[in-house]
Amino acid sequence: MLSKKVEKAINAQINAELWSAYLYLSMSAYCQDKGYSGIANWFAVQFKEEQDHAMIFFNYVVSRGGRVTLAPIDVVPTEWKSALDAFEETLKHEQKVTSLINDLYALATKENDYATQSMLKWFIDEQVEEEENAQDIINNLKMIKDNGYGLYMLDKELAARVYVQAAPLATAAQ
Ligand code: FEO
Repeated sequence: MLSKKVEKAINAQINAELWSAYLYLSMSAYCQDKGYSGIANWFAVQFKEEQDHAMIFFNYVVSRGGRVTLAPIDVVPTEWKSALDAFEETLKHEQKVTSLINDLYALATKENDYATQSMLKWFIDEQVEEEENAQDIINNLKMIKDNGYGLYMLDKELAARVYVQAAPLATAAQ
C-alpha cells in the first residue's frame, strides 16, 4: 500500500515524464524542420524512452494498489536557436529531472517506503546516463562549431540510435 503522499508525488512524476516525452518530440520536430534527420531520430528515441519512464511509474502505482490520476501536460517550447541550444536545454532539463527523482527518493525514505526506494534505484542510475549522453553530444557540437561536414557526420551517427524498451518494462513483459 502506497502512502497518499508517495502516491501523489509519483503521479506528479508521471506527468513530468510525459512532459519530457512531449519536449523531446517537439525537439525532434524542430530538427526535422532544419534538415537534421539523424538528430531528429535521437530525439524521437528519447521521446519513446520518456514514455517508458512514465509507464514504469504507472505500473508501479498499480502494483502497489494505488490510483493513477493523469493531469494535463503543459505546453512545450517549439523553437531553439540551434541543435546545440536544444541539447543544452536537454541537459538542463535532465538535471531538473534528476533532482525530482532525488526528491522522490528522499520522500520515500522519510515515509519508510522501502519498495519505492528500491524501484527508484533504476531511475537514479538512468539519470546518470541521461545527463552523460546530453553532455557528450554538447561536447561534440562545441567541437564541430560551424563545420558542416562535422555536423553531417554527427547527424549520421545519431541516426543510428535505436529504441530499446526500458529494462523494468521488458522484464515485466516476460
Ligand atoms: Fe525520464 Fe529523461 O528522464
